[in-house]
Amino acid sequence: MAQEDVFKKVVSHCKEYGFVFPSSDIYDGLGAVYDYGQNGVEMKNNIKQYWWQSMVLMHENIVGIDSAIFMHPTIWKASGHVDAFNDPLIDNRDSKKRYRADVLIEEQIAKYEEKVEKEVAKARKRFGDAFDEQKYRETSPKVAEDLAKRDALHERYSKAMNAMDLDELRQIILDEEIVCPISGTRNWTEVRQFNLMFKTEMGSTADGASTIYLRPETAQGIFVNYLNVQKTGRMKIPFGIAQIGKAFRNEIVARQFIFRMREFEQMEMQFFIKPGTELDWFQTWKKTRMAWHQNLGFGAENYRFHDHEKLAHYANAATDIEFKMPFGFKEVEGIHSRTNFDLSQHEKFSGKSIKYFDPELNESYTPYVIETSIGVDRMFLSVMCHSYQEEQLENGETRVVLKLPAAIAPVKLAVMPLTKKDGLPEKAREIIDELKFHFNCQYDEKDSIGKRYRRQDAIGTPYCVTVDHQSLEDNTVTIRFRDTMEQERVNISDLLGIIEDKVSITSLLKKLK
Ligand code: GAP
Repeated sequence: MAQEDVFKKVVSHCKEYGFVFPSSDIYDGLGAVYDYGQNGVEMKNNIKQYWWQSMVLMHENIVGIDSAIFMHPTIWKASGHVDAFNDPLIDNRDSKKRYRADVLIEEQIAKYEEKVEKEVAKARKRFGDAFDEQKYRETSPKVAEDLAKRDALHERYSKAMNAMDLDELRQIILDEEIVCPISGTRNWTEVRQFNLMFKTEMGSTADGASTIYLRPETAQGIFVNYLNVQKTGRMKIPFGIAQIGKAFRNEIVARQFIFRMREFEQMEMQFFIKPGTELDWFQTWKKTRMAWHQNLGFGAENYRFHDHEKLAHYANAATDIEFKMPFGFKEVEGIHSRTNFDLSQHEKFSGKSIKYFDPELNESYTPYVIETSIGVDRMFLSVMCHSYQEEQLENGETRVVLKLPAAIAPVKLAVMPLTKKDGLPEKAREIIDELKFHFNCQYDEKDSIGKRYRRQDAIGTPYCVTVDHQSLEDNTVTIRFRDTMEQERVNISDLLGIIEDKVSITSLLKKLK
């Protein structure tokens, strides 16, 4: 199946099976805002639990907080977001559509790469088995020409972005003859800076009201609580503070479903360390976070690091963990060595000392920070895209199955009476009443057993149990496994032992060790 088709199918599957709905759906939606449905919220909660427990339960020196979304407006001045949290935007005068200038140019860079790949694919077809791909890439004049164009554009673009030279960004768009995908014209406006923070007012009177912002990252809630947590928790460096919560950005280009949203959720951890140790800790957290992702079993080849060449002025190392989505490798998580920038800024703007007295060194310093920051929604999307499969069965039918890791699946067990009579529903409910304390169970009695299995496959339920007349006699049931579709006769009293461990977050955490 073409990757574009996979993505379209995932989006409609999410809606059809109660995972993700467009926000305000009956009012035709709201741009780049989404709601999680009955299955989506369970799966999202499982992802959050996997992250939270891997941070807070698995590390003695990491604790969690839950800070407010509204914060003192000076925080955003101190953090640099008021002045510098901008995207360069450009409008097409004919279509009246707005674009991010940097995204238009990045797409152009990607086009040169696509051209190279097409050339290589054509040559592979032409030369068959005798094709030496590496040699072709090194010697083909056409490939060399496209790569040279790509590199020149990349260099010019990086320079313009580093200097935030808006005129140059526009000139690149004109020189590269980039057209608006809607109007097909090159009738572009100037490039302008656009701040991504949403504003609102706090206070009831116009005079007394002050402008406050919806937080664009959860991290600042951690920085401004650093002292509170360090003192009340008697935390010793190195230690971390973790937080999960909503963040808001007025994204100009909001596309690709829940990949880029205006309201989204982050799982962030700031790890406070001694200055000078940051590059070692950066490597440690890179490894730890990659292991967390790969532990889900989606295959190491689907992940890669993308180290940043262009660093924010406060960072001395940064990388992204990218996952292979149907639309290419994309950032799911960022790991940043943020030096002591944030704490120093808050020290300066608040006038309060945020120093740490290190008893081992017998000196005070402003701690350095390694940040790990992952988007819940992007993580959700990567899990969905990887798990969605269409399988051709021996009887010629196709089944749609979400091969979710059992610990992430929204429903762990479906219990189905073979018929709606003869005491079978009561027996099925007895099983659920016993197991519902341990994991999420669903009762399903409508339609044929085959249809019920398909419904559960489509939401990724790893286990289904069928109650039949024999169950009333000997307390056994048929358990069916989602991935193999194999069935086994087992004792009802054995179900907990068979299922519980496999569907628990603990099982994932144990594999991390
Ligand atoms: N505190 C650092 C920070 O916020 P970021 O790279 O801007 O860094 C971190 O964001 C993560 O948040 C990203 O890797 C991504 O997973 C998620 N994220 C950022 N913007 C997003 C958006 N508009 N929609 C969904 N997820 C987003």
